[in-house]
Amino acid sequence: MGVRFKGWGIAVPDRVVTNEELSKTLDTSDDWIAERTGIRERRIGGSARTLGALAGKRAMDDAFVEPSDIDFLVLATTTPDRIAPATAPMVANDLGLTCPAMDVNAACSGFMYAIRTAQGLLETGNKRILVIGSEHLSRWVDWSDRNMAVLLADGAGATVLEYDPNDTDVLSFCLGADGSAADLLTCEHGGYFEMDGKEVFRRAVRVVVDSAEKALEIAGISADDLSLVIPHQANIRIIQAATQRLGIEMERAVVVLDRYGNTSSASIPLAFDDARQNGRIKPGEYALMTGFGAGMTWASAIVRWS
Ligand code: UT7
Repeated sequence: MGVRFKGWGIAVPDRVVTNEELSKTLDTSDDWIAERTGIRERRIGGSARTLGALAGKRAMDDAFVEPSDIDFLVLATTTPDRIAPATAPMVANDLGLTCPAMDVNAACSGFMYAIRTAQGLLETGNKRILVIGSEHLSRWVDWSDRNMAVLLADGAGATVLEYDPNDTDVLSFCLGADGSAADLLTCEHGGYFEMDGKEVFRRAVRVVVDSAEKALEIAGISADDLSLVIPHQANIRIIQAATQRLGIEMERAVVVLDRYGNTSSASIPLAFDDARQNGRIKPGEYALMTGFGAGMTWASAIVRWS
């Protein structure tokens, strides 16, 4: 028994902010940002609610399901519109859902944590679950701080998961959290995101490699068997370092951070959507989905597309 991905959808704001534009108000340059992060432009605007609802609607349309078909909404966000209520009930209302709806906050691992939560809910009696990752990070960025302003952006991605008594698309998970590293990446109430970038970078590579190796082992396959790696989109150098240590060529990694920047819990579904649009998702093939972020949290999963 297991879970199936039935449909996907994304939403990004229309407003494109290029590195050039940021260079006009910050002591930075297109060269520095592109070289040190891989980011060239990002989308800014909307809210966790508006972007999440649009991505959710598109995923439901893609899965050919009606609001009454959805039994649970799990919405991953680090940047809810308000502290209370959670964003999920408002998104549910926008989508015509009357099922239970809750937020999950595991920072940039949020989408994978939400999928893991949904898997548990499906195995305990629910038939179909809408999982959304939606972020409005730009609201919590100090736009005069070049350390963070060049990295974070807005966006959303969603998938409809369905219970299958016979088979599964998700073969394994490896999730974790290390709260002793909580102060490395924070946003206080009423404040802005702050980060010890170098230390987060070092730990990110380590936890991605470790969790990916464990997820591969549990799934009973090797890195050579992977057709695709769908990583959290924080920094191209993190993706390069992690894939290199796993013995996977960069050609197998999906990269969209050049266009979207770091959208936290939206980044993995945004990358998935890009891979699908470009015909890189093939039935029967294996992929590694892997995220890490504030907490620190991490989450890797091995999936096989059906
Ligand atoms: O989504 C989850 C978590 N986030 C991440 O995973 C991000 C992890 N960290 C990173 O991606 C990288 O550490 C950064 C992109 C944040 C920084 O890259 P770095 O190569 O580690 O640069 P650095 O912090 O060592 O800074 C190098 C220099 C510094 O100047 P000095 O001290 O050498 O004179 C910085 O002040 O670059 C300077 N700098 C910048 N220069 C131009 C920092 N930010 C900028 C900037 N433009 N935007």
